[in-house]
This record gives sequence, C-alpha cells and structure tokens, in this order.
Amino acid sequence: ETMTVREEIDLKSFIRHIPDFPKPGILFYDISTLMRNPDAWQMAMGRLARQIAPLRPDVLAAVESRGFLTAAPLADRLGCGMLMLRKRGKLPGRTVSHTYDLEYGSDTLEIQEDAVLPGQRVVIMDDLLATGGTLAASATLLRKAGANVVGASVLMELTGLGGRARMDGVPVTTLMSYED
Ligand code: PRP
Ligand code: MG
Repeated sequence: ETMTVREEIDLKSFIRHIPDFPKPGILFYDISTLMRNPDAWQMAMGRLARQIAPLRPDVLAAVESRGFLTAAPLADRLGCGMLMLRKRGKLPGRTVSHTYDLEYGSDTLEIQEDAVLPGQRVVIMDDLLATGGTLAASATLLRKAGANVVGASVLMELTGLGGRARMDGVPVTTLMSYED
C-alpha cells in the first residue's frame, strides 16, 4: 500500500504549548498553530470526519468558542446540521442553561429549547477535553433539550484529568492524547 506524506502528519507537532496561560500553572494547548497550516488543518478535519461518521449524527453540537471551529467544517463534510451551545446571554428565544466548573473558573452554557428534535442523534464537538466539565454540561443540556447524545469529539484530550469518566458512557473520540 502506498502511504502518502499527508497520512503521516503528526498533528501534535502543530500544537503550541504556552505555559502559565490564562493563569499561572496552566499549560495552554494552542491550536492556532495547527489551524494556520492548511495541510495539517485539512488532515485534522479529515481524521475527525472518519471518527465521527460511524456515529451517524443528525446534528453536531458546537461548544462556544473553540468547538465552533471544528463543528462547522465537519457538519459540511458529513452533511449534517449543527447547533450552538453558547455562553450565557448570547442565544435569543427560550433557552435552558447549566453552570459548571472549568479547569480554571466556572462558566454557564445555554442551548435553545427547540435546538433538536426529540431523539435526534447528536455528537458534541469541542477542541479540548480537560476536566470534562464543559462536555458533561453540554451533554446534560442536550439531553434536557431532547437529544440522543451519541458521542463527543475533541481534537485533544488531557487524560490525566479524568474528564472522560464524567461522560456517563458517552463515547469520546480524540485526535491527540496528552498524559500530562
Ligand atoms: C476550554 C476549552 C474547552 C474547555 C475544556 O474552553 O476550549 O471548551 O475549556 O475544559 P474542561 O474539560 O475542563 O471543561 P474555555 O471555556 O476556556 O473557552 P473558549 O473555548 O471560549 O476559548
Ligand atoms: Mg472551549
């Protein structure tokens, strides 16, 4: 079999590590350096598509802010819809909200009450799984809105923080794992 150069791209080599951001002691995994490289970004989106397609989503749920970056191209590639899980006060109309703890601080996510049809298959999209607070809150909100949460997809997982265990059996796929 022929293995193209593109298939061998090590996506981790495109992630920049910035210490002490946004707070002392936090090592920030910066995807800017992945996104700015067209071949690496396209490779990443292709790999995400291959992980997510078997879950047969009807809708991708994009977690503000950085989840928007992967959900939009993936919804286009997979031919499914997408919805936004937004931070407090950004969504019009009737919403459901949920407050959760972050690796640093706390935050509130909201979803529009009518964002999904009952039983629709939804995959949650974000850039990073750290403590899992964000993904778990997202799953809670989506279920309140009537979704069937069939998976979650991230670019990067910090496995040492145990976030996956907070997902109540929802399968989480990642492109890059960091053991810290
Ligand atoms: C970051 C990151 C994930 C979340 C991961 O988002 O983009 O959404 O934290 O952390 P957790 O697993 O511990 O919840 P953040 O709220 O910092 O903001 P942003 O996406 O708007 O930049
Ligand atoms: Mg985020």
